[in-house]
Amino acid sequence: MSEFVAVARVEDIPDRSGRAFDVAGRRIAVFNLSGRFYAIDDTCTHEEASLSQGPVMGEMAVCPRHGSRFHIPTGQVRSLPAVHNVATYAVKVEDGVVYVDPTPRVHAGRIHGGA
Ligand code: FES
Repeated sequence: MSEFVAVARVEDIPDRSGRAFDVAGRRIAVFNLSGRFYAIDDTCTHEEASLSQGPVMGEMAVCPRHGSRFHIPTGQVRSLPAVHNVATYAVKVEDGVVYVDPTPRVHAGRIHGGA
């Protein structure tokens, strides 16, 4: 059963950027892609880097430490050195407030090499 938690107002997360929040014991990054909000694990699956601290390129969060790219809407890892996807979380916006459901949606799969 979903339990949405208010994390921010929409203006707190500028377009093409992310911010991390502690929600129910998880570190969750919320990204704004042209007014659409998505939530993924903030911690890179390679090492302990914060994905919300890196740049956003198109629909990709770029890890600030070694440059792996994660597709924000699906959590899929798209480039090495990280090989595992990140979990995604349901997001809703009501009356200018961004809510996250901290129930992780884990996406199996990994990349097997290549860039
Ligand atoms: S810590 Fe993210 S790619 Fe290495």
